[in-house]
Amino acid sequence: METTGTIRLGNENLEFPVITGTEGEKALDTRTLRAKSGYITFDEGYGNTGSCLSEITFINGEQGILRHRGYAIEQLAERSSFLEVAYLVIYGELPSEAQLNQLRSQVTKNASIHTGMRYHFEGFPIDAHPMAILSSMLNSLGAYYPNMSSNDREQDLAHFDETAAVLISKVRTIAAMTYRMKKGLPFVFPDHSRRYTDNFLHMMFTEPYNEYHNDSGAADALDLFLLLHADHEQNCSTSTVRMVASGGANLFASVSAGVCALWGPSHGGANMAVIKMLEEIHADGDDGSRFIKAAKEGKAKLMGFGHRVYKNYDPRAKILGKSAEHVLSGIGIDDPLLDIAKHLEQAALEDDYFIKRKLYPNVDFYSGILLKAIGIPVEMFTVMFAIGRMPGWIANWKEIAENPKSRIHRPRQIYTGPPLREFVKLGDR
Ligand code: ACO
Repeated sequence: METTGTIRLGNENLEFPVITGTEGEKALDTRTLRAKSGYITFDEGYGNTGSCLSEITFINGEQGILRHRGYAIEQLAERSSFLEVAYLVIYGELPSEAQLNQLRSQVTKNASIHTGMRYHFEGFPIDAHPMAILSSMLNSLGAYYPNMSSNDREQDLAHFDETAAVLISKVRTIAAMTYRMKKGLPFVFPDHSRRYTDNFLHMMFTEPYNEYHNDSGAADALDLFLLLHADHEQNCSTSTVRMVASGGANLFASVSAGVCALWGPSHGGANMAVIKMLEEIHADGDDGSRFIKAAKEGKAKLMGFGHRVYKNYDPRAKILGKSAEHVLSGIGIDDPLLDIAKHLEQAALEDDYFIKRKLYPNVDFYSGILLKAIGIPVEMFTVMFAIGRMPGWIANWKEIAENPKSRIHRPRQIYTGPPLREFVKLGDR
């Protein structure tokens, strides 16, 4: 096995160490390239760039493998819960019963938000996007905990466990309050007797004199959805969190930036785009065939398909596809969008265009159908993704914060603008 690799520049051979990961992944450690040669590497979109060493999540996109701290996502999905996986992702080991109970009680205890934050909600226009509200509110939340958001690394780390519980708990309360504010409904206090997702659904859907109860498995389905989103290594939003953390920013500020990065339709916003696409196909009376044709002609994009890393089935999509079907039948909903999705998937998997480009369903393909069945409005889909991703962002922030050798993230660039020119006075331009 090679331990070094050589780059030849002109007549010079430059040797660099090879770094090998636990699963045999290899990287050429070019950190000294610029100092040795004046060259930098150019990798727009970072498709070939490892930005960090990380112990949290392993993905093999070619084989469709996803593991957290060594545990396969399929086993975690079948045997554990969102909070259990959150603990695993953040602390590196599955929790003991006592540790899990401790996290549960910390999360429950921290479900309410400071009354002062209600006034922040009042300041937003009614048509503000929930992701704009969520990112602002998470950053504002830090202002209510100055001891946890000091930007003094040692101090912020000393309060880490509580900060993590505050964020995992309150992101859910803020999300529910956002929904109710937009609907003009009164806020609902968290109910400490309910479990994580059941409490969220209660804060979303309880009406005065009409407590929310759902025995059809909605809370379990939502728990699975969140679990499957808990972490996904160096994606756009997690890299953003690490970037912000690398400058020394506190956890509240870092995850708030992660929410902004997640918002885009190529990332977390895709789950909204999938439902929009399926509804348009349904309204057109198409079974998906015409849409596939348009996608192949470059006139449309099959949302929920394709992934930068997975060149195989996204394992989360497989689990969610099955679960969506189960939930819909449990709730007694017959959603025509599920049939269209299944038909689109089948047609795409048999089509040369998609086969050649290794385009498979990603996690967003079925997640919208599942969320819709639970009663979550489309506008809130990306917010749900953010609630699920919170443990991953927290774990990645921790990895940066606890690393004494951590350096500020500061990529270089190749400048392609005008060369040096003489300043021209305003009157002469
Ligand atoms: N539908 C149709 N064609 C597609 C799709 C798609 N969804 N995705 C990629 N392609 C085609 C491209 O047009 C390109 O074709 P070409 O070689 O003829 O030019 C080829 O497949 C390669 O695509 P890239 O854009 O290079 O793939 P990249 O890795 O840059 O993008 C991405 C990945 C952004 C996920 C893309 O597949 C996409 O836009 N998918 C739809 C949006 C989506 O579902 N996003 C969610 C991603 S998962 C997540 O963030 C949770």
